[in-house]
Amino acid sequence: MIEPLRKSTREEREQWLKEAHYNVFQLRSEQVYIDLLTDSGTGAMSDRQWSQLMLGDESYAGATSFYNFEGVVKKLFNFKYVIPTHQGRAAENVLFSYLVKEGNVIPGNAHFDTTKGHIESRKAHAIDVTTDEAKNTQLEVPFKGNVSIEKLTKVLEDNKGNVPFMVLTVTNNTVGGQPVSMKNIEETCALCHKYGVPVVMDSARFAENAYFIKTRELGYADKSIKEITAEMFSHVDGMTMSAKKDGLVNMGGFIATNNEDWYQGAKLFCIPFEGYVTYGGMNGRDLNALAAGLDENTEFDMLETRIHQVAYLAKKLDEYGIPYQRPAGGHAIFVDADKVLDQVPIEEFPAQTLTCELYLEAGIRACEIGYMLADRDPETRENRFGGLDLLRLCIPRRVYTDNHMDVIAAALKNVYDRRHEITRGVAIEWEAPLMRHFRAHAPLIKKRDRMGL
Ligand code: F0G
Repeated sequence: MIEPLRKSTREEREQWLKEAHYNVFQLRSEQVYIDLLTDSGTGAMSDRQWSQLMLGDESYAGATSFYNFEGVVKKLFNFKYVIPTHQGRAAENVLFSYLVKEGNVIPGNAHFDTTKGHIESRKAHAIDVTTDEAKNTQLEVPFKGNVSIEKLTKVLEDNKGNVPFMVLTVTNNTVGGQPVSMKNIEETCALCHKYGVPVVMDSARFAENAYFIKTRELGYADKSIKEITAEMFSHVDGMTMSAKKDGLVNMGGFIATNNEDWYQGAKLFCIPFEGYVTYGGMNGRDLNALAAGLDENTEFDMLETRIHQVAYLAKKLDEYGIPYQRPAGGHAIFVDADKVLDQVPIEEFPAQTLTCELYLEAGIRACEIGYMLADRDPETRENRFGGLDLLRLCIPRRVYTDNHMDVIAAALKNVYDRRHEITRGVAIEWEAPLMRHFRAHAPLIKKRDRMGL
């Protein structure tokens, strides 16, 4: 499918951004030239997937589409029980409704924001146990998404009897689409199991993770992506999946496990929240398209083409000297906004400021994965400034050409070249009590020497 892109003028963008309260989530898509907000649900489906839509069975219960989808999930991940949900956070909602109790502690390698939201809204605690290597954006190590075994041991030791499960996210989105090695998956699961703690894999980008294992980890070069996938999941007790990423569909998700108790418990919540257990919020035709997508995206060529495009953009940024989380991630480049806008104080959110600047420059919509998204501590209400402050340039699957990558890099270079003029950031005028980044009103702080404002 082809759609026209519309260019806009700087004056138009200034007006639109103002109307959107300086929050790019509130822009209309037609106000965007190149959309790098997310790789979630924004990919293009293949001819095989489109043809599967025609064969969708929309029976309320026991549809052939469900069994088609279930068969692919069972084969790829080796789990007996499969529950479809309408997206990843719905899978979290259903499973966590059964597993999470007030006061619980749930360690993870940088929980995604909805995952953290589902934990914190149940008055439980999400504790980050990502390796410290991830905090140094300029360090080139192959598996920056890894769990720190030392940090995890401490959490498990200090909270015995109060950890219902651990969340292992592949790839680790929040620190830059960075992969987790097979060795680390194995060690993390062995450690959790020693403490009697099961592991749930947050699997949104599992195939990209498998690609990095194949291309970077000793002993995996000759294994297929499907073999690596099976090995990754053989260590964990269950999975939640946002199928909008590595499932190559616009909407969809699921839970899978071998744990019968979890399956029975989750089913209780699936029916009222999502729908009957053989459709769980999805159409039959979409279950069919997802089955085809999972099969396609666990082929090496597909993953190589995609990840090379991300690496191509990274190479351009290297040419221009723009710092980002190294090495390039699977689904996105995460620009180190703190280092680019080093004159903007952290209290004025450099990455959010850079998001606005890039949009004003060229109509490119990126996404802040930084202090705005880190939100406030649910108890103290303090801003969490401790982590990384990144601008995510997220590349949709099978949508843009390398020519678009050139435009993105050139636009960012233009902002980079005038970075010394940008000394003030944004000020939050209004925010929601939870997950503020989606709806916050955070205007750019006016300064006389800011270009055009
Ligand atoms: N887990 C991870 C690692 C994710 O990246 C996401 C979504 C989810 C869970 C939730 O899945 O959106 O289907 O409900 N990430 C998107 C993103 C939104 O832009 O990174 P969902």
